[in-house]
Amino acid sequence: MRRYQYLLGDAKREAARLRAQASLWDPVSCALFDRVGIKRGWRVLEIGPGQGSLHLELRRRAGGPVDAVERSPVFTSQLERITRKDGFGRGQVWQTDLVDAPLPRATYDLIFARWVFLFLPNPDAHIRKLVRALKPGGLLAIQDYHRDTFALVPRPPEWFDFVLADRAFFASQGGDVSIGSRLPDLYRAAGLTLADIEVTIKTGRPGSPVWNWLTTYFIGVMDRYAAFAPFTPAQARHLRRYWLAASKSRTSRLIAPALLDVVGRKPR
Ligand SMILES: C[S@@+](CC[C@H](N)C(=O)[O-])C[C@H]1O[C@@H](n2cnc3c(N)ncnc32)[C@H](O)[C@@H]1O
Repeated sequence: MRRYQYLLGDAKREAARLRAQASLWDPVSCALFDRVGIKRGWRVLEIGPGQGSLHLELRRRAGGPVDAVERSPVFTSQLERITRKDGFGRGQVWQTDLVDAPLPRATYDLIFARWVFLFLPNPDAHIRKLVRALKPGGLLAIQDYHRDTFALVPRPPEWFDFVLADRAFFASQGGDVSIGSRLPDLYRAAGLTLADIEVTIKTGRPGSPVWNWLTTYFIGVMDRYAAFAPFTPAQARHLRRYWLAASKSRTSRLIAPALLDVVGRKPR
Protein backbone atom coordinates (compact mmCIF):
# COMPACT_ATOMS: atom_id res chain seq x y z
CA MET A 1 0.00 0.00 0.00
CA ARG A 2 1.12 3.56 -0.69
CA ARG A 3 3.00 5.33 2.14
CA TYR A 4 1.75 8.78 3.05
CA GLN A 5 2.38 11.82 5.22
CA TYR A 6 -0.40 12.55 7.69
CA LEU A 7 -1.33 16.13 6.78
CA LEU A 8 -2.34 17.64 10.12
CA GLY A 9 0.31 16.41 12.57
CA ASP A 10 0.11 16.35 16.37
CA ALA A 11 1.32 19.78 17.51
CA LYS A 12 -0.31 21.45 20.53
CA ARG A 13 -2.42 23.73 18.36
CA GLU A 14 -3.79 20.74 16.37
CA ALA A 15 -4.52 18.89 19.64
CA ALA A 16 -6.50 21.92 20.86
CA ARG A 17 -8.36 22.13 17.54
CA LEU A 18 -9.28 18.44 17.79
CA ARG A 19 -10.60 18.91 21.34
CA ALA A 20 -12.79 21.87 20.32
CA GLN A 21 -14.02 19.96 17.26
CA ALA A 22 -14.81 16.93 19.40
CA SER A 23 -16.90 18.94 21.83
CA LEU A 24 -19.04 20.11 18.91
CA TRP A 25 -19.35 16.68 17.26
CA ASP A 26 -19.23 14.08 20.06
CA PRO A 27 -23.04 14.21 20.52
CA VAL A 28 -23.42 13.12 16.85
CA SER A 29 -21.04 10.21 17.45
CA CYS A 30 -22.85 9.28 20.67
CA ALA A 31 -26.13 9.18 18.72
CA LEU A 32 -24.43 6.77 16.32
CA PHE A 33 -23.25 4.65 19.27
CA ASP A 34 -26.86 4.61 20.56
CA ARG A 35 -28.13 3.36 17.18
CA VAL A 36 -25.41 0.72 16.98
CA GLY A 37 -26.42 -0.46 20.46
CA ILE A 38 -22.98 -1.12 21.96
CA LYS A 39 -23.31 -3.76 24.68
CA ARG A 40 -21.23 -4.39 27.78
CA GLY A 41 -18.52 -6.89 26.99
CA TRP A 42 -18.21 -5.96 23.30
CA ARG A 43 -14.71 -6.06 21.83
CA VAL A 44 -14.19 -2.63 20.26
CA LEU A 45 -11.34 -1.14 18.18
CA GLU A 46 -10.99 2.57 17.44
CA ILE A 47 -8.83 3.85 14.60
CA GLY A 48 -7.16 7.26 15.09
CA PRO A 49 -8.68 8.30 18.45
CA GLY A 50 -6.74 11.60 18.50
CA GLN A 51 -7.47 13.34 21.81
CA GLY A 52 -9.54 10.35 22.94
CA SER A 53 -12.92 11.73 24.03
CA LEU A 54 -14.80 9.06 22.05
CA HIS A 55 -12.34 6.41 23.16
CA LEU A 56 -13.38 7.07 26.78
CA GLU A 57 -17.03 6.96 25.69
CA LEU A 58 -16.55 3.62 23.91
CA ARG A 59 -14.86 2.18 27.02
CA ARG A 60 -17.74 3.38 29.18
CA ARG A 61 -20.32 1.80 26.87
CA ALA A 62 -18.42 -1.49 26.44
CA GLY A 63 -17.68 -1.54 30.20
CA GLY A 64 -14.07 -2.51 29.56
CA PRO A 65 -10.91 -1.77 27.61
CA VAL A 66 -11.04 -0.74 23.96
CA ASP A 67 -8.17 -1.29 21.51
CA ALA A 68 -6.77 1.47 19.30
CA VAL A 69 -4.53 2.16 16.34
CA GLU A 70 -3.05 5.67 16.53
CA ARG A 71 -0.05 6.76 14.47
CA SER A 72 0.94 9.75 16.65
CA PRO A 73 3.24 9.00 19.61
CA VAL A 74 2.03 12.21 21.29
CA PHE A 75 -1.64 11.26 20.97
CA THR A 76 -0.89 7.65 22.00
CA SER A 77 0.75 8.83 25.25
CA GLN A 78 -2.20 11.09 25.92
CA LEU A 79 -4.56 8.14 25.33
CA GLU A 80 -2.60 6.00 27.78
CA ARG A 81 -2.72 8.82 30.34
CA ILE A 82 -6.48 9.36 30.18
CA THR A 83 -7.40 5.67 30.09
CA ARG A 84 -5.41 4.95 33.25
CA LYS A 85 -7.99 6.84 35.29
CA ASP A 86 -11.39 5.39 34.37
CA GLY A 87 -11.03 1.90 35.82
CA PHE A 88 -11.86 -0.02 32.61
CA GLY A 89 -8.42 -1.58 32.19
CA ARG A 90 -5.75 -1.42 29.56
CA GLY A 91 -6.60 -1.88 25.91
CA GLN A 92 -4.09 -2.83 23.23
CA VAL A 93 -2.77 0.33 21.55
CA TRP A 94 -0.81 -0.04 18.33
CA GLN A 95 1.21 3.15 17.82
CA THR A 96 1.55 2.85 14.08
CA ASP A 97 -0.17 3.55 10.78
CA LEU A 98 -3.22 1.34 10.37
CA VAL A 99 -1.59 -0.30 7.37
CA ASP A 100 1.13 -1.72 9.65
CA ALA A 101 -0.99 -2.69 12.67
CA PRO A 102 -0.92 -6.47 13.29
CA LEU A 103 -4.66 -6.69 13.96
CA PRO A 104 -6.05 -10.02 15.14
CA ARG A 105 -8.54 -11.82 12.91
CA ALA A 106 -12.28 -12.20 13.57
CA THR A 107 -12.04 -10.45 16.95
CA TYR A 108 -14.10 -7.25 17.10
CA ASP A 109 -17.83 -6.62 17.55
CA LEU A 110 -17.31 -2.99 16.49
CA ILE A 111 -14.58 -1.05 14.71
CA PHE A 112 -15.02 2.73 14.73
CA ALA A 113 -13.19 5.61 12.99
CA ARG A 114 -14.07 9.31 12.83
CA TRP A 115 -12.19 11.62 10.42
CA VAL A 116 -9.43 9.16 9.57
CA PHE A 117 -10.46 7.66 6.24
CA LEU A 118 -10.38 11.00 4.38
CA PHE A 119 -6.60 10.97 4.83
CA LEU A 120 -5.91 7.39 3.76
CA PRO A 121 -4.58 6.23 0.42
CA ASN A 122 -6.04 2.88 -0.68
CA PRO A 123 -9.20 3.07 1.45
CA ASP A 124 -10.39 -0.18 -0.15
CA ALA A 125 -7.41 -2.12 1.22
CA HIS A 126 -7.77 -0.46 4.65
CA ILE A 127 -11.45 -1.45 4.79
CA ARG A 128 -10.66 -5.05 3.77
CA LYS A 129 -8.08 -5.15 6.59
CA LEU A 130 -10.70 -3.99 9.11
CA VAL A 131 -13.27 -6.48 7.80
CA ARG A 132 -10.81 -9.32 8.45
CA ALA A 133 -10.52 -8.11 12.08
CA LEU A 134 -14.32 -8.10 12.59
CA LYS A 135 -16.14 -11.09 14.05
CA PRO A 136 -18.84 -12.56 11.82
CA GLY A 137 -21.83 -10.28 12.54
CA GLY A 138 -19.46 -7.45 13.66
CA LEU A 139 -19.95 -3.82 12.65
CA LEU A 140 -17.72 -1.27 10.92
CA ALA A 141 -18.85 2.31 11.71
CA ILE A 142 -17.05 5.19 9.99
CA GLN A 143 -17.89 8.88 10.27
CA ASP A 144 -16.45 10.99 7.49
CA TYR A 145 -17.15 13.89 5.19
CA HIS A 146 -19.08 14.43 2.02
CA ARG A 147 -17.51 17.85 1.46
CA ASP A 148 -19.81 19.06 -1.32
CA THR A 149 -22.30 20.85 0.96
CA PHE A 150 -19.57 23.23 2.20
CA ALA A 151 -20.35 26.93 1.55
CA LEU A 152 -19.66 30.42 2.84
CA VAL A 153 -22.66 32.70 2.32
CA PRO A 154 -22.43 35.18 0.65
CA ARG A 155 -20.11 33.28 -1.71
CA PRO A 156 -16.59 34.70 -2.14
CA PRO A 157 -15.40 35.10 -5.77
CA GLU A 158 -12.57 32.52 -5.41
CA TRP A 159 -14.74 29.88 -3.70
CA PHE A 160 -14.63 27.21 -6.41
CA ASP A 161 -10.84 27.39 -6.74
CA PHE A 162 -10.60 27.15 -2.95
CA VAL A 163 -12.82 24.05 -2.96
CA LEU A 164 -10.55 22.47 -5.59
CA ALA A 165 -7.52 23.26 -3.41
CA ASP A 166 -9.24 21.62 -0.42
CA ARG A 167 -9.75 18.46 -2.48
CA ALA A 168 -6.20 18.59 -3.91
CA PHE A 169 -4.65 19.05 -0.43
CA PHE A 170 -6.05 15.69 0.73
CA ALA A 171 -5.47 14.03 -2.65
CA SER A 172 -1.77 15.03 -2.45
CA GLN A 173 -1.32 12.15 0.03
CA GLY A 174 -3.80 9.82 -1.67
CA GLY A 175 -6.78 10.85 0.47
CA ASP A 176 -10.33 11.81 -0.54
CA VAL A 177 -11.93 14.69 1.32
CA SER A 178 -15.37 13.39 0.31
CA ILE A 179 -14.68 9.75 1.17
CA GLY A 180 -17.92 9.52 3.17
CA SER A 181 -20.13 9.17 0.11
CA ARG A 182 -17.84 6.46 -1.37
CA LEU A 183 -17.99 4.30 1.75
CA PRO A 184 -21.19 2.41 0.84
CA ASP A 185 -19.63 1.07 -2.37
CA LEU A 186 -16.31 0.35 -0.63
CA TYR A 187 -18.17 -1.57 2.10
CA ARG A 188 -20.09 -3.67 -0.42
CA ALA A 189 -16.91 -4.46 -2.36
CA ALA A 190 -15.30 -5.64 0.91
CA GLY A 191 -18.23 -8.01 1.60
CA LEU A 192 -20.11 -5.91 4.19
CA THR A 193 -23.87 -5.45 4.22
CA LEU A 194 -24.89 -1.83 4.62
CA ALA A 195 -26.68 -1.50 7.99
CA ASP A 196 -27.17 2.26 8.54
CA ILE A 197 -26.43 5.66 7.00
CA GLU A 198 -27.05 9.00 8.69
CA VAL A 199 -26.21 12.49 7.43
CA THR A 200 -25.53 15.56 9.59
CA ILE A 201 -25.08 19.05 8.12
CA LYS A 202 -24.33 21.80 10.63
CA THR A 203 -24.70 25.48 9.82
CA GLY A 204 -23.62 28.52 11.78
CA ARG A 205 -23.64 32.29 12.02
CA PRO A 206 -20.60 34.37 13.03
CA GLY A 207 -19.57 33.75 16.62
CA SER A 208 -21.35 30.37 16.81
CA PRO A 209 -19.44 27.16 17.64
CA VAL A 210 -19.93 25.95 14.04
CA TRP A 211 -18.56 29.22 12.61
CA ASN A 212 -15.56 29.14 14.96
CA TRP A 213 -14.84 25.45 14.24
CA LEU A 214 -14.78 25.89 10.44
CA THR A 215 -12.95 29.22 10.57
CA THR A 216 -10.19 27.87 12.84
CA TYR A 217 -9.46 25.00 10.45
CA PHE A 218 -9.77 26.78 7.11
CA ILE A 219 -8.01 30.03 8.03
CA GLY A 220 -5.30 27.82 9.61
CA VAL A 221 -4.64 25.89 6.37
CA MET A 222 -5.29 28.73 3.89
CA ASP A 223 -1.58 29.34 3.15
CA ARG A 224 -0.95 25.62 2.57
CA TYR A 225 -3.96 25.46 0.23
CA ALA A 226 -2.45 28.35 -1.78
CA ALA A 227 0.10 25.85 -3.14
CA PHE A 228 -2.68 23.93 -4.94
CA ALA A 229 -3.54 25.45 -8.34
CA PRO A 230 -5.80 26.86 -9.60
CA PHE A 231 -6.07 28.46 -6.13
CA THR A 232 -3.31 31.10 -5.79
CA PRO A 233 -1.57 32.94 -2.92
CA ALA A 234 -3.33 36.16 -3.99
CA GLN A 235 -6.71 34.39 -3.85
CA ALA A 236 -5.80 32.98 -0.42
CA ARG A 237 -5.03 36.49 0.87
CA HIS A 238 -8.30 37.82 -0.54
CA LEU A 239 -10.35 34.93 0.80
CA ARG A 240 -8.84 35.29 4.27
CA ARG A 241 -9.81 39.02 4.33
CA TYR A 242 -13.28 38.21 2.95
CA TRP A 243 -13.83 35.46 5.55
CA LEU A 244 -12.67 37.60 8.49
CA ALA A 245 -14.89 40.48 7.30
CA ALA A 246 -17.80 38.02 6.98
CA SER A 247 -17.12 37.03 10.61
CA LYS A 248 -18.23 40.53 11.63
CA SER A 249 -21.47 40.54 9.64
CA ARG A 250 -24.66 39.32 11.26
CA THR A 251 -25.98 38.09 7.88
CA SER A 252 -23.10 35.73 6.97
CA ARG A 253 -23.55 31.97 7.24
CA LEU A 254 -21.36 28.87 6.97
CA ILE A 255 -22.79 25.59 5.76
CA ALA A 256 -20.48 22.79 6.90
CA PRO A 257 -19.37 19.73 4.97
CA ALA A 258 -21.88 16.92 5.56
CA LEU A 259 -20.76 14.25 8.01
CA LEU A 260 -21.88 10.77 7.02
CA ASP A 261 -22.18 7.89 9.50
CA VAL A 262 -21.82 4.70 7.49
CA VAL A 263 -22.32 1.36 9.25
CA GLY A 264 -21.71 -2.03 7.65
CA ARG A 265 -22.13 -5.54 9.01
CA LYS A 266 -19.93 -8.54 8.29
CA PRO A 267 -22.08 -11.52 7.30
CA ARG A 268 -22.30 -14.35 9.83
C1 LIG B 1 -8.48 14.40 12.22
S1 LIG B 1 -7.88 13.42 13.51
C2 LIG B 1 -9.39 12.76 14.21
C3 LIG B 1 -9.20 12.31 15.64
C4 LIG B 1 -10.40 11.66 16.29
N1 LIG B 1 -10.81 10.47 15.57
C5 LIG B 1 -11.54 12.62 16.40
O1 LIG B 1 -12.59 12.35 15.82
O2 LIG B 1 -11.39 13.66 17.06
C6 LIG B 1 -7.17 11.98 12.70
C7 LIG B 1 -6.51 11.04 13.69
O3 LIG B 1 -6.15 9.85 13.03
C8 LIG B 1 -4.77 9.58 13.27
N2 LIG B 1 -4.29 8.91 12.04
C9 LIG B 1 -4.16 9.46 10.82
N3 LIG B 1 -3.78 8.55 9.93
C10 LIG B 1 -3.66 7.37 10.60
C11 LIG B 1 -3.30 6.05 10.23
N4 LIG B 1 -2.97 5.74 8.97
N5 LIG B 1 -3.29 5.09 11.17
C12 LIG B 1 -3.61 5.39 12.46
N6 LIG B 1 -3.96 6.63 12.87
C13 LIG B 1 -4.00 7.61 11.95
C14 LIG B 1 -4.14 10.94 13.53
O4 LIG B 1 -2.93 10.87 14.26
C15 LIG B 1 -5.26 11.62 14.32
O5 LIG B 1 -5.22 11.25 15.67
